Amino acid sequence: MALTHSVSTSLEEQRSIWAEAYRGVRQRSEELCAPLSPEDYVIQTTPEASPAKWHLAHVSWFFETFLLKEYLARYPEFHPLYRDLFNSYYEQIGKYHPRHERGFLSRPGVGEIYRYRAHVDEHMLTLLHSVSESLWPSVQQRLAIGLNHEQQHQELLLTDIKRNFSANPLRPAYRSDLPETPKASAPAMRWLAFPGGVREIGH
Ligand SMILES: [Fe+2]
Repeated sequence: MALTHSVSTSLEEQRSIWAEAYRGVRQRSEELCAPLSPEDYVIQTTPEASPAKWHLAHVSWFFETFLLKEYLARYPEFHPLYRDLFNSYYEQIGKYHPRHERGFLSRPGVGEIYRYRAHVDEHMLTLLHSVSESLWPSVQQRLAIGLNHEQQHQELLLTDIKRNFSANPLRPAYRSDLPETPKASAPAMRWLAFPGGVREIGH
């Protein structure tokens, strides 16, 4: 997310820019799930791979918990138990459903999760267009974190879908419009020589 808080942009322009960014990120998550069947959304084939349905709800929970409940007056909570159900492991927020049991949840169904997302979206857009100028910097800052968080979960969503599909002997493909990888054998392993010494890595 390359958007930054700019003093030369009016508050109204900033509201529009960020509302657009919000819509874009939220829409992208749903596009990534478009190839899934309702059953694909639910399974968890290893404790580390969350169900797609859980990812979609958890990123919405983030906006509900850290923006709507804190900054939107009279925000109507979608469901009181979602607070624990879709908390990942933010201890300070309260209890959370065990990570390895996310795939136990046939309910709420996929349709209900999409209604939860729509509810959060509607109120998020209200918040972005109505929050006072004094609260805007805090809201904008948290919004940026929320969008980065959802984008991070988009990556997880894809790796988890891949993991869940890999457990199926039918070898389902996430996309059928890509050319098949040519079959080839890996070259034999061998040692590589390089000059030794202490090296700096990372940013
Ligand atoms: Fe998360």
